[in-house]
Amino acid sequence: MLNVLFVCLGNICRSPLAEGVFDDLIQKEGLGEQVSCDSCGTSSYHIGEQAHPMSRRVAHENSIELTSRARQFEPNDFQEFDYIITMDASNKRNLRTFQGYNDASGKIFLMREFDHALSGKDVADPYGGEIRDYEYCYKILKESCGNFIKYMKKQHPQLQA
Ligand code: 4NP
Repeated sequence: MLNVLFVCLGNICRSPLAEGVFDDLIQKEGLGEQVSCDSCGTSSYHIGEQAHPMSRRVAHENSIELTSRARQFEPNDFQEFDYIITMDASNKRNLRTFQGYNDASGKIFLMREFDHALSGKDVADPYGGEIRDYEYCYKILKESCGNFIKYMKKQHPQLQA
C-alpha cells in the first residue's frame, strides 16, 4: 500500500478537498487497493471539525462527499506516509517544527509541483473567501492530483488497475 497525506494549515478547506479529489481519481482508476490517502493540518485550530461548508459544497457539486474530520499533523506521520503533499510553502515550512522532520526524505512535495506548469506555487487559501475561491481551489487540485497520480505510476510501475 502506498500512503499519501495531504497537508494544509487548518485541515478544513484545502487538504480535505485534495483528499476527496485524489481518492475519487484513485477509485476511478481502480487503484483503491494499492493507494490510500488522508489529510491533516499543521495547526490545532480546527481539530475534530468537518470540512468547511464551501469545500463540501464544491466537492458535492462534483459528486464527491467529504467526510473527514480535522486532525493535526503528528510526528509519526513522517514514517506512516510515503508522500506528504503540502498545499503551500508555509505548510511545508511548518512541518520542520515537528519531531522527525528530515529534509532528505524526498517524500515532501508542494501540491503545485504537479500542476500543468509544474509551478510549485501555493494552492491559494480560500478560507474567508467566496465560493469562487473554493471552485478555483478545486480546479487546481483536480489538475494537480491527476498529474500526481501519473507521477506515482511512473515511480511505481507495479501500480496497476
Ligand atoms: P486550510 O484553510 O488551511 O485550507 O484548512 C484555513 C482554515 C482555517 C484557518 C486558516 C486557513 N484559520 O486560520 O483558522
